[in-house]
Amino acid sequence: EKGTYPHYMLKEMDEQPSVVRKIIQEYSNGDDELTIDDNILEALKQADRLYIIAAGTSYHAGLIGKQYFEKMAGIPVEVHISSEFGYNMPLLSEKPLFIFISQSGETADSRQVLVKVKEEMGHPALTITNVPGSTLSREADYTLLLHAGPEIAVASTKAYVAQVAVLSIAAYVAGKSLGKEFDFDLKQELGIAANGIQTMIDRKDELEQIAEDYLKIARNAFFIGRNLDFYVSLEGALKLKEISYIQAEGFAGGELKHGTIALIEDGTPVFALVTQEHVSLNIRGNVKEVVARGADACIISMQGMEEEGDRFVIPTTHPLLTPLVSVVPLQLISYYAALHRRCDVDKPRNLAKSVTVE
Ligand code: F6R
Repeated sequence: EKGTYPHYMLKEMDEQPSVVRKIIQEYSNGDDELTIDDNILEALKQADRLYIIAAGTSYHAGLIGKQYFEKMAGIPVEVHISSEFGYNMPLLSEKPLFIFISQSGETADSRQVLVKVKEEMGHPALTITNVPGSTLSREADYTLLLHAGPEIAVASTKAYVAQVAVLSIAAYVAGKSLGKEFDFDLKQELGIAANGIQTMIDRKDELEQIAEDYLKIARNAFFIGRNLDFYVSLEGALKLKEISYIQAEGFAGGELKHGTIALIEDGTPVFALVTQEHVSLNIRGNVKEVVARGADACIISMQGMEEEGDRFVIPTTHPLLTPLVSVVPLQLISYYAALHRRCDVDKPRNLAKSVTVE
């Protein structure tokens, strides 16, 4: 029930801090350490390569999951759009583990791949889903649950945050078990991220103002970032287009100049994420390139890396976990842009919550 909330989407965005806390709790053992099911841990360790299969927002979470498994566990990962994978299968490694990420657990494009790789080819499969007992969960060998509670709004928000959090835990636990040393405690960092998300939620008014300043009359918008920020840019652009119908694209900061910069005109809104220290100079350079062509840049940076003129600063978060926090202002900006334009936020045109046709 949405209670006093005007929209499910707003309620679900507000739930995000508690979703992360719930995940920390659900994935902690009696010794207060992060853990995942032994069989799943074994399957991850046995695999020589992970194949993440997903669609839409879940695909964007998968791109971040690849970074987690490669950086924290040292396991190579490929991420594929489900509707492409089934009909254009890459060469597979010897011991692949397939990971299906799906909020609903019902997406037909993903299920089609599951049937092919598991039933026809005999490969093991793990589903990461919000819905226990969903088709993808029942048909896979293993399931990791998101514990996000029902997501009703068509635009996925809390499920994305839950997917990123659960992927970080799976990768960290696998890494530990493979003997990797960490100079941080993921559990503690996830708690800090949950607080950071709460700060974003508490700053809605500023984000509403940004939506008004940058998007009220915009015909299109760009989201740019590098590394993890690039993947969050893809998600920011998807949120904006699906609920406000503003043409929006997410780009790797360095790629814009290879063509797309031709679209920048006087006043074109460009949202730039700056949370990754080792590429912060590069992305700031990319912002200068678009501003020189007239773009109206809105820089969203992280505390400790902010510069004068940045429009919004997110609290300090572990560099691997910034997507959990930086996506929230983008979700809220999209929400308010859609409201300004009187769009049906919870039920955008042409979309369904779960896409059960291929
Ligand atoms: C975007 C959105 C869709 C879904 C996609 C996959 O806000 O909701 O892009 O992410 O249809 O759905 P699931 O995760 O249920 O497989």
